[in-house]
Amino acid sequence: MCGIVGYAGEGSAKAMIVSGLRSLEYRGYDSSGIAIVKRGRLTVRKESGKLKALEARITDPDFDGPVGIGHTRWATHGAPTRENAHPHVSADGRIAIVHNGIIENYMDIKAELIRDHGVEFVSETDSEVIAHLIRLYFEDDLVLAVRKAADRLHGSYALAVVCADDPDRIVAIRRNAAPLIAAHCEEGGLIASDIPALLPYTRDVYIVEDGELAIVTKQGVELYDEDGTRMKRTRTHIDWDIAAAEKVGYDHFMQKEIYEQPAAIRETLARRLSKDGRILLDDLGLTKEELGQTDRIYIVACGTAYHAGLLGKTMIERYAKIPVEVDRSSEFRYREPLITDQTLVICISQSGETTDTLEALRDAKRRGARVLSVVNVVGSSIARASDHVFYTWAGPEIAVASTKAYTTQLVSLYLIALYMGLMCKTTTKDEAAVLIEGLRGTPALIQEVLDGQDKIVELAKQHYKKEKIFFAGRGMDVATAEEASLKLKEITYINSFAIAAGELKHGTIALITKDVFFFALATQTKLYDKMLSNVKEMKARQAQVVALCKVSDPRLSEAADDAAFIPDCSDEIAPVVAIVFFQLFAYHVARLRGREIDQPRNLAKSVTVE
Ligand code: G6P
Repeated sequence: MCGIVGYAGEGSAKAMIVSGLRSLEYRGYDSSGIAIVKRGRLTVRKESGKLKALEARITDPDFDGPVGIGHTRWATHGAPTRENAHPHVSADGRIAIVHNGIIENYMDIKAELIRDHGVEFVSETDSEVIAHLIRLYFEDDLVLAVRKAADRLHGSYALAVVCADDPDRIVAIRRNAAPLIAAHCEEGGLIASDIPALLPYTRDVYIVEDGELAIVTKQGVELYDEDGTRMKRTRTHIDWDIAAAEKVGYDHFMQKEIYEQPAAIRETLARRLSKDGRILLDDLGLTKEELGQTDRIYIVACGTAYHAGLLGKTMIERYAKIPVEVDRSSEFRYREPLITDQTLVICISQSGETTDTLEALRDAKRRGARVLSVVNVVGSSIARASDHVFYTWAGPEIAVASTKAYTTQLVSLYLIALYMGLMCKTTTKDEAAVLIEGLRGTPALIQEVLDGQDKIVELAKQHYKKEKIFFAGRGMDVATAEEASLKLKEITYINSFAIAAGELKHGTIALITKDVFFFALATQTKLYDKMLSNVKEMKARQAQVVALCKVSDPRLSEAADDAAFIPDCSDEIAPVVAIVFFQLFAYHVARLRGREIDQPRNLAKSVTVE
């Protein structure tokens, strides 16, 4: 959740850290801070609010030096105040730490530090105990002190530590989930929570594995395992461009990422389809025998990825005829799912770092399941913990609200469903060819939605002041309604609600009044008539109804107050296209409401706490 950056070299640590924090601000953005070590002195500056607020406080050239660490926070323990911002410092001001994750036993440690050592705490965070603990164990070796302190900590964390009495290096350590990447470049050694922070300097990075400790100096990066044995690690080469992680002319990352969807889907397909339409998934290692023995599949994910999972279920059951359940990661491992060695778990995650999903994955593996993950970030924790990985190749997604990751997840799940169906012989080559043809057509269809935005802007202008918006559909439109509603609430803060239209009459209809704005999704041909009844029910209660139909089947538009259209396509392809309409609707409403589109309040891109 939080972003960490550290630099040890000869240049300006302040400049390196600020540039890194800027690219990590999506991870958390309610407060930030920097600690600099220079000639045996440690100086810390922190500020609440966005990074800009900190930048305004550190303009003086005196606040700089060759070594430092920085942090951008997403509050978990304690409000986003300056006191609670990181770095946290030991009472004597000699050691500073930045922390991403949660220390579960901090209350016990805090009580002990107060009782036995008279430590005075200045923040409400769990992280502050780490600085005091390291100080307690520090004699003359920072690495040893960090190790001793880390052994006392329960929870998940990535830490970076600097010390005025050991001034040339940063010691970093990672345990249970929280990601950490290190690198060495001309300017010196670097450490960060994510790749974009390092990309301006190098494309070759070391992934610090779980349990490892890294020492970062201007000469390079050393990695050690839990026992203190030096590790050899080949560097991972990042092949996406820095431009892909910048806005390049768009007003917001979200807008850019919406527009990137045709290209992202082309990339996903190009990696997994041969020219003659064969699905290239053999490298996943999913054998015919394995699939034949699979008695059930659980799809496990959070947020947007969960909505992709809902459609993945429909497609896998339809094409591979294997029963699928979809679970929210945060619920999965606490409900004792029926897992055997014949169970396949599919984890879906853009970041590959979401703690709820990673822990669900680990739990499933402990119980004997095999795990296939559908992940965007190469080399992420979820990818590495899985038996098989399908990368979505959407490129870096920076905006908190997920867009291109979602549509590439859908395309990936469709391919997986077809591949399984062909392997299990429950799908014929001809049936597969039809869907593949449909998938190949999606970039052009999405482009049509992007090009025909006037209607979306018009709807946004008409309705952006509404306080209640409903999305309802049937069949495959239900997941689209859920995702459309999530997009809207994430970035506009409008109270939006998604429902399977058939459920309206079982309770939710009580909320329908003339103030309600109601989107009726009607892209599923065989459920058209049923949706028509729902629209009539809504109109009878004076809701303002807009229908989203396929251009070739506008029947519903007559019953609604207004209608918008997506290009003609099959019912199965419709979710991939229709969601783009709603991403744009949410985007334009958020603009009109003057929202912080890329960094909505209280949300973070990568949620590495439970
Ligand atoms: C956060 C983000 C959502 C995302 C969810 C799952 O809540 O704000 O946009 O859908 O995490 O993230 P993942 O990286 O696992 O797909």
